[in-house]
Amino acid sequence: MPTIEDITVDPPDIGEQFDPRTLFPDGRPVELEIGSGKGGFLLRRAQAAPDRGFVGIEWANKFYKYTADRMARWGLNNVRMMRADAKHLFIHQMAKNCLDALHIYHPDPWPKARHHKRRLIDTEFVRQVVTIVKPGARWAIQTDHAEYFEWIRERTSPRPELTEIPYDDPEFGIVDEEAGTNFEIKYIKEGRPIYRIAFRTR
Ligand SMILES: C[S@@+](CC[C@H](N)C(=O)[O-])C[C@H]1O[C@@H](n2cnc3c(N)ncnc32)[C@H](O)[C@@H]1O
Repeated sequence: MPTIEDITVDPPDIGEQFDPRTLFPDGRPVELEIGSGKGGFLLRRAQAAPDRGFVGIEWANKFYKYTADRMARWGLNNVRMMRADAKHLFIHQMAKNCLDALHIYHPDPWPKARHHKRRLIDTEFVRQVVTIVKPGARWAIQTDHAEYFEWIRERTSPRPELTEIPYDDPEFGIVDEEAGTNFEIKYIKEGRPIYRIAFRTR
């Protein structure tokens, strides 16, 4: 049974690179979720794919601890949780060609124009993502915020490395367009629209 200490990993020191493959012993495929919140998606994915490694990056200490504890209680040996600002990590410290899938579900929309600079997904972030994921990797994004969704489209569509693919992909945990995150479940119950997009990298 893993302990919470087995699940949690420290962020890299300043100037150090982070290669998530080093967290797992056997060269297995690695998927990473940014903003894992209460961990609903990670839990289900890690249970369904015990031969893959999963990393959750969560900035809020409360959710980071909650999810790490949840993974330990479910006895999941294939999940690691890091408390870090994923934007800084992706722009400055991630290794290249290291992820088989990147999951981003309901990133904070920062709706006010003066806060748009705080959005996770911007031009520089997208430029980094296409070098951090492996060629042929899957990148799935969903949001309940129509304007942020358009913003994301405008920043992803110019990238020649990204090919849009169907959102459903049972191999990556998406069936009937549902990722099963806590926010998604809540918004579906409320009847709010959800906007979804997935890419394969060339
Ligand atoms: C709206 S919640 C969505 C949580 C979860 N993905 C879901 O769908 O239920 C956004 C989450 O992203 C986290 N977050 C926001 N900015 C982040 C960043 N720069 N790095 C890591 N996590 C971040 C927040 O703390 C929060 O838990």
